[in-house]
Amino acid sequence: MNETMKTILNRRSIRAYKPEQIKEEELQTILEGGIYAPTAINEQPWHITVVQNKDLLDKINRSCREMMQKSGNSTFAERAKSDSFSVFYNAPTFIIISGDPKAITPEIDCALALENMFLAAESLNIGSCWIHAVTQLFSTEEGKSLKQELGIPAEYNTYSAGAFGYKAMEATAPTRKENIINIIR
Ligand SMILES: Cc1cc2nc3c(=O)[nH]c(=O)nc-3n(C[C@H](O)[C@H](O)[C@H](O)COP(=O)(O)O)c2cc1C
Repeated sequence: MNETMKTILNRRSIRAYKPEQIKEEELQTILEGGIYAPTAINEQPWHITVVQNKDLLDKINRSCREMMQKSGNSTFAERAKSDSFSVFYNAPTFIIISGDPKAITPEIDCALALENMFLAAESLNIGSCWIHAVTQLFSTEEGKSLKQELGIPAEYNTYSAGAFGYKAMEATAPTRKENIINIIR
């Protein structure tokens, strides 16, 4: 099997990370992978925010916890109550991809960029996980000021966000659904 296929098959959502920060050249490789994703009519309609600052990571986590506790969803509220809860599993690097809502397919473009980053990370044996709650955070009142603090363009929406760091767990692939492919020849 070639290296690219091995990387695709080995990538898993990692939900426990070592505290040690990833190397600068590893971060740059992950980012380069992201911005080489395809985009509708090559708009590249994105802005990428990398957060590695502990205070800011804590602030984002606190805001997510508050949002989850007020969500009305008892499972989320219960989970977020615990002081040890980390929405990004204590990952040392958190990447937020925002996009221009006036672009043709910003949500798809930003999702493809994040998946490219996940695969680039896996090729370096770095773990990653999509973190959905943060994309909702920036539409709340508290989230709006945080968005400004993070330098995310005011007119952009946050479409995808992911945790990155050295893996502190191994995960196995969920079984694949069957009979979902129809090849017509
Ligand atoms: C759009 C999207 C949102 C997701 N949101 C979360 C999330 O908020 N937290 C989380 O731990 N995993 C999240 N995941 C990861 C999925 O749970 C995971 O991809 C799935 O269970 C399959 O596992 P695998 O990634 O190891 O193949 C998300 C994945 C996608 C594609």
